[in-house]
Amino acid sequence: MTIEVAIAGSTGSIGTQTLEVLARAGEGYRVVSLSAGRSADLLIRQALEVRPDVVVIGDTAHEAEVRAGLPSSIRVYSGTDAMADCARQADVTVNGIVGFAGLPVTLACLEAGRRLALANKESLIAAGPVVQRARRTPGAELVPVDSEHAAIHMCLRGIDAPADGGPSRVSRLQITASGGPFRGRTIEQLASVSVAEALAHPTWSMGPKITIDSSTLMNKGLEVIEANELFGIPAGDAGVGLSLDDIDVVVHPQSIIHSMVTLTDGATIAQLSTPDMRLPIGYALAYPDRSNTPFGAIDWTSPDLFGNGTLTFELPDRRAFPCLDLAFAAARLAGTAPAWLNASNELAVAAFLQGRIGWTDIARINQSVLERHDGGTAESLDDVLAADHEARVRADELLKQLR
Ligand SMILES: NC(=O)c1ccc[n+]([C@@H]2O[C@H](COP(=O)([O-])OP(=O)(O)OC[C@H]3O[C@@H](n4cnc5c(N)ncnc54)[C@H](OP(=O)(O)O)[C@@H]3O)[C@@H](O)[C@H]2O)c1
Repeated sequence: MTIEVAIAGSTGSIGTQTLEVLARAGEGYRVVSLSAGRSADLLIRQALEVRPDVVVIGDTAHEAEVRAGLPSSIRVYSGTDAMADCARQADVTVNGIVGFAGLPVTLACLEAGRRLALANKESLIAAGPVVQRARRTPGAELVPVDSEHAAIHMCLRGIDAPADGGPSRVSRLQITASGGPFRGRTIEQLASVSVAEALAHPTWSMGPKITIDSSTLMNKGLEVIEANELFGIPAGDAGVGLSLDDIDVVVHPQSIIHSMVTLTDGATIAQLSTPDMRLPIGYALAYPDRSNTPFGAIDWTSPDLFGNGTLTFELPDRRAFPCLDLAFAAARLAGTAPAWLNASNELAVAAFLQGRIGWTDIARINQSVLERHDGGTAESLDDVLAADHEARVRADELLKQLR
């Protein structure tokens, strides 16, 4: 059987690695659609290589250019609705779009009862209750691509599920963090860090937004909310019924253990591999089977194991990296608070990358926006869209004041 794959965000770090995984997998998959934001040249090159049925460019201004670069056998569209349509058609959609812009693809895929290989954490974080509803569509399946959540997903599969109605045997989740490029620095030292320093991640090569989020530990905070959404739901309903208070963040600078699950009998189960996103991407594509192409396998016989053979663990510095606790706070406020924090963070990170604000301003803006949260609930997509808009207006006002 050939699995038909849609890749949303094909020109990014996740998208290009997905194409690599599929090229190495050979038989068994067919890429039926590619979509991207505005990188027309790369999108054309990718399409000429894999020959999908459909190509979508988000930015309508580039549609004619993309069409001119491709044979007429490949249909070319533009805009978000066309991307969502692609996600409705394929057996599996890899959502590698960055930011809140990935929400329509997440919802379209799940509402069509398809499998979603989700890298775009922002859609789940900002629209948790709406995505949970879509996730209950018959046939819909959400397999995480984020390495920490893929690790937990793998660990949970190794644990015998409790008998129907029985209590979960999972007592805590441990999400690991590399600590980013600024691990060990004090808040005072962090006041003057540059964009180039923040982009120099020690263990992962990723797109700019998630790399900055890793430097502030906002990425880890967002991942806590993501884990709460993915696994906090009741046992038997794809989750283990845990709450936010059952999720630990552990700094593990070698990025070898990608996350852990602690059971009620005291055992902790972990997933280990070298830092390589092609492993969780391949996992989500092959699920519930396992891929035959190894990525990130550890050579346990190497004399140079993990540099000096040591895996280390420490607690995060919550004073130097306040974004971590802001995410916990947003998750506890619930409703549209995570959407507010996510929107504010997207604007603040973009402003930092453009050199308009300092690194410590990111947390400052996020905190100020979250303090202004109006207590709104996220019952519908309209609630989430309105919350995202409102938070962006607030963050923009603060950015203008800072300048
Ligand atoms: N990279 C990783 O290793 C990694 C690991 C875990 C999770 N993730 C998550 O995966 C997602 C993607 O991250 P990334 O690092 O791959 O980002 P990236 O390299 O910046 O790529 C982002 C992709 O999204 C597309 N895009 C941007 N804005 C869009 C819009 N408005 N509409 C449609 N497409 C749009 C981009 O298209 P153009 O470039 O053509 O504009 C690009 O294809 C993020 O949510 C991130 O948190 C990434």
